[in-house]
Amino acid sequence: MTIISNDIAKAIEILNNEDVVAIPTETVYGLAGNIYSEKAIRKIFEVKQRPFFNPLIVHIHTIEQIEELVSEFPAKARKLAATFWPGSLTLILKKKSNIPDLITAGKDAVAIRIPNHPVTLSLLKELSFPVAAPSANPFNRISPTSSLHVEHYFKETIPMILEGGECENGIESTIIGFENNEPVLYRLGAISIEEIENVIGEIKVKNKNEKAPSAPGMLTRHYAPRTKTYLVDDVETFIKNFKNKRIGVIKFSVEIKCSHIEHLEVLSKSGDLKEAASKLYNTLHKLDNLNLDLIVAEIFPDFGLGKSINDRLERATK
Ligand code: TXA
Ligand code: MG
Repeated sequence: MTIISNDIAKAIEILNNEDVVAIPTETVYGLAGNIYSEKAIRKIFEVKQRPFFNPLIVHIHTIEQIEELVSEFPAKARKLAATFWPGSLTLILKKKSNIPDLITAGKDAVAIRIPNHPVTLSLLKELSFPVAAPSANPFNRISPTSSLHVEHYFKETIPMILEGGECENGIESTIIGFENNEPVLYRLGAISIEEIENVIGEIKVKNKNEKAPSAPGMLTRHYAPRTKTYLVDDVETFIKNFKNKRIGVIKFSVEIKCSHIEHLEVLSKSGDLKEAASKLYNTLHKLDNLNLDLIVAEIFPDFGLGKSINDRLERATK
């Protein structure tokens, strides 16, 4: 039986017992386990059907814990952490040898973040170990932004979902690592490139290396609904090609009226990209459950969180 509850003491008991708990964060729900428990970490991979080459993000509650985990903390990383933690930024840093290879897929660097969710911060403060938490979805599927999404995926296979409401940002953290001491952005996410560059200056973006991904969030097909999905400039013209099909449409801010659209979702009537990003996955989950023939999304503006939204939508079309 899967418990869905805000009982932090129960979550602690399960985690201390080397089992896994789905936890809320401000980005998406994660599937958490003690980083030092091989049993818990193996269960995370097994439940998600995630390949072992895909490393996990370590979640901590205070910057002091970083001492225990990393051997190098470059100045620009410190600056980013000071600005954005707790928050939707993941830093990839040279690891200490006590971090199990299962967590990092044998790499010499570990991904770390302090999530910004009150329930999970309270939980992390009570634990004597950090937790590893990938998004709580089966490999390649849409990330969950509510406890119901997690339940839909993992009912009966995990003991508990810690209830934390809907995820405020609704899209995964932005991932930044370092190559020759220079910052590199590997995954577009809830913090925009512009916000990052305001703090540390220009940053190289390397989020499209599909053959040997540094972060498999970079895999071409990822975050994908089962319904065939298209990303197009002009939705109205595109859907003319699909006269007798059941179509779901995702628009940014402006409605369209067209008789053969079965379901229309406008992500932000006021044209706010942050609001649109927060609703993206919930909308994809919803449309994917309607048994439509196709989902057609419009290309979002190519700046701020629009870039992160387009990145996820592109991967959803593959
Ligand atoms: O917002 C988030 O980051 C959520 C919440 C739960 O914190 N977590 C999340 O985890 O999105 P996951 O596992 O779904 O995505 C983490 C990405 C993967 O693409 C993984 O390959 C990459 O981070 N990653 C993790 N550790 C890494 C490492 N040591 N080196 C390179 N990439 C790494
Ligand atoms: Mg994921």
